[in-house]
Amino acid sequence: MQTKEILGVDVGATGIKAGIVDIETGKLVQERIKLPTPKPATPEAVAKVVVDLVAKTGYTGSLMGCGFPSIVRNGVAYSAANIDEGWIGTNIETLLSTATGLDVVSMNDADAAGLSEMRYGKGKGKMGTVMLITIGSGLGSALFTDGHLVRNSEFGHLHLKGWVAEHYVSNTARKNYEMSWPSFGKRFNEYLLHIDRLFSPDLIILGGGISNMFEEFGPHIDPKLNVTTAAMFNQAGIIGAALYAFEAKFGAI
Ligand code: BGC
Repeated sequence: MQTKEILGVDVGATGIKAGIVDIETGKLVQERIKLPTPKPATPEAVAKVVVDLVAKTGYTGSLMGCGFPSIVRNGVAYSAANIDEGWIGTNIETLLSTATGLDVVSMNDADAAGLSEMRYGKGKGKMGTVMLITIGSGLGSALFTDGHLVRNSEFGHLHLKGWVAEHYVSNTARKNYEMSWPSFGKRFNEYLLHIDRLFSPDLIILGGGISNMFEEFGPHIDPKLNVTTAAMFNQAGIIGAALYAFEAKFGAI
């Protein structure tokens, strides 16, 4: 029988995280491991860190899913907002497979987190338009319609008040402009209202590094919006990447 324990890796702007995921339960079978993202985060440097991470997990299987912070089509990175530009045109799957010896399947990091929430978390069984927004160094997005993923949405790059949205209201923007949580909440509310006007989501799930600060900024979000935080918090990217890799290779679980 095919093993249901798949390695998930989530490449972020500040950290690269890995964990072995039981894709039947959607849970990590051991603590996740995190190493700092190298600077600059060139393909070669990132591949080296991924090799170290794989070794640290002690993974003995052969398949790895990788969430990556860019547009990913057929394993190739097509953008690089928060990662080294050398990634553009790089086949993530070939590079990481050669480096680790594993079979690798990659996808956008926010899409991975969204898949995880739709399968095991707050989006489970939800029809209509569901959107997951990850708040970290950038703003990531995953769009679902009746449970189906519309890949590579980049709603962190919508324009808002003359800004690229993620320059106005990501965690990096919060730090750069020394925003208090209420100020951040007000800006984030403007962003969500813009999203609401464009897509009328039935549910918005917040993930990523600072979704655990929701108690601080959540009170500034318009109550007419149906907003919740990710059940899997910042593990969603690892779990979704592993699930996606499994299903890409072996079909639906
Ligand atoms: C990238 C997205 C990514 C998001 C979160 C954005 O800057 O363009 O592809 O999902 O950051 O990492």
